[in-house]
Amino acid sequence: MAAEKKKVLLGVTGGIAAYKACEIVRGLQKAEVDVRVVMTENATKFVGPLTFEALTGHAVGVDEFGYPGDAIPHIHLAQDCDLFLIAPCTMNCAAKLACGLADDLLTSAALATTAPLLVAPAANTQMYTSPASLNNMATLSLRGVELVEADEGYLACGVEGRGRMAEPQRIVERALALLGVRGDMSGVSLMITAGPTIEPIDPVRYITNFSSGKTGYSLARAAARRGADVTIVSGPVAVDPPEGVTVVSVRTAREMRDAAAEVFPACDLAIFAAAVADLRPEDESDRKLKKGLDDAALSTIRLAENPDILSELGHAKREHQVVVGFAAETHDVVDNARKKLIAKNADMIIANEVGPEKAFGTEGNEIYMITAAGEEHLPYMLKSELADIVLDRVLDLR
Ligand code: CTP
Repeated sequence: MAAEKKKVLLGVTGGIAAYKACEIVRGLQKAEVDVRVVMTENATKFVGPLTFEALTGHAVGVDEFGYPGDAIPHIHLAQDCDLFLIAPCTMNCAAKLACGLADDLLTSAALATTAPLLVAPAANTQMYTSPASLNNMATLSLRGVELVEADEGYLACGVEGRGRMAEPQRIVERALALLGVRGDMSGVSLMITAGPTIEPIDPVRYITNFSSGKTGYSLARAAARRGADVTIVSGPVAVDPPEGVTVVSVRTAREMRDAAAEVFPACDLAIFAAAVADLRPEDESDRKLKKGLDDAALSTIRLAENPDILSELGHAKREHQVVVGFAAETHDVVDNARKKLIAKNADMIIANEVGPEKAFGTEGNEIYMITAAGEEHLPYMLKSELADIVLDRVLDLR
């Protein structure tokens, strides 16, 4: 018998981030969580209840006295959930929660619930950092309410500062952790190499490539959300690591090889998403190269080949291990990728075309998944969406 789904009651209050609550619903549903939504009257000015009704398949509560088929919805909704999440939570709502005010369906349910309360506040910077708001949030925190602190950034009101609601992914991850949801990858140990490597010429200069690390980090985020135990062996990147993931930071290909070789033996799956620099300057100068070099020095940086990490570990893999590589190609994408599948002893190669505006640094990608059994094409989509499909296929290889 399938395990009963966890239930989240999502409270949406009246801030511009209300539209991001739709993404939170989707993120929770992907983890098999059943979501019901209650909204304040003001929230309905940003997103219509119909949107949430369509997304969740449940009636949306706004009016305490108008919930279909239930005379006391604030009690029933509050009791019938494993977690009450309020996102976004305006400073007005935070103040009401801190005081125990219950003047609408959402705040009445918040007062009535015995489930853990998770709050993602959002507001204009002045409102967010006003002593009253900070005091209210401190009160909530002392009372055991979990807060997902707002991010800094450009706000809808045109100023820059703290107050932008945390990214939906981060909120979903916190919610799932509080729910103790075990995903379909729980018990799976996964290593991912990600980002570029940098190969020093001298103490201030290096050779590298355009990799942003987004592909590897999206895979790590999705796998962690699905319960995997994830280690990223990462070159220098500017993306934030997902919650609950171990990051081993390296700079050069040789450092990445050493770190990956240490993590690899204990993992079930390994995905090599790093754009490893194939070549490095043979001699790294220990002093900064100064202007005025002679002609010979100007015309030569001698290069040496770096270890091929995927190939080394692909050939070392044991029976139960699944190894997945990428192929960055400018032409003959599938043919070249198939050659890499064989040469590197991988179980799957994910091939993509690279070039200006393609693959490196972008938010999305179009890929081919190549295995001994055949190939599958996935059209352009966000890297976060690709990640779940790739993981589904990788799990099928076990
Ligand atoms: N890779 C690796 N170590 C290297 C080079 C590549 O682990 N020194 C891995 C990458 O992480 C990727 C796969 O091998 O999973 C293919 O990388 P790619 O750059 O497409 O191919 P290369 O093997 O470098 O071959 P070429 O540059 O000739 O296309």
